[in-house]
Amino acid sequence: MTTLLIATRNAHKVGEIQAILGAPFRCLTLKEFPDAPAVVEDADTFAGNATKKAVELAKWLACSECGKRNVESGNIFVLADDSGLEVDALNGTPGVHSARFAALDKLENSRDADNNAKLLRLLKDVPLEKRAGRFRCVIALATVSSPSAQQLFDGACEGWIQFAASGHGGFGYDPLFVPDGFTQSFAELGEDVKNKLSHRAKALAKLKVYFSRLPT
Ligand code: IMP
Repeated sequence: MTTLLIATRNAHKVGEIQAILGAPFRCLTLKEFPDAPAVVEDADTFAGNATKKAVELAKWLACSECGKRNVESGNIFVLADDSGLEVDALNGTPGVHSARFAALDKLENSRDADNNAKLLRLLKDVPLEKRAGRFRCVIALATVSSPSAQQLFDGACEGWIQFAASGHGGFGYDPLFVPDGFTQSFAELGEDVKNKLSHRAKALAKLKVYFSRLPT
């Protein structure tokens, strides 16, 4: 059994990661580690932010009682997801700033509804054929025993941005994003479909291959 600490406070991301990974992973979340430090996501790439989150939490865990216990009994991995939406007509933005797109001058995340409203406003005059974009995800994996030796796994999901939100599933920009090959948004398609083709699903598929090749 592999133990992973999923290093995000985004409950939707945790749910998707747990659903996609399934057995044989034992997933811990930051709810079980209320003293874990908040990591400032100030890198300018998804890989930079994911790495920072995974390494800082693995280092913190190595010094905590729980981390030490886990290291003695085997190992614990820290998994950090950094992800976002890139829109071609906006030169790849919101990108790494997806979570706080509506108020870029603030450090805290904006509400999904405000981010979506800003995106629709900026794309108001952009025709259908120029509304292409993609979700991108980079997952960093660090170990408590050797925090600096991290691995990266990436995934992207191509699609386009609708003219209005539709659907109630998922989170973030899901009500606006229609993946290529479909006519409904991620929020309408639901979690079973999304978790098979999303950026996160593709990155996690690579992570599963990595674990399957580790010596037991
Ligand atoms: P992070 O927590 O800094 O990685 O921010 C990710 C942000 O990107 C989220 O707050 C969402 O706005 C957006 N995002 C990432 N993945 C998804 C997804 O699967 N669906 C919709 N929005 C997403």
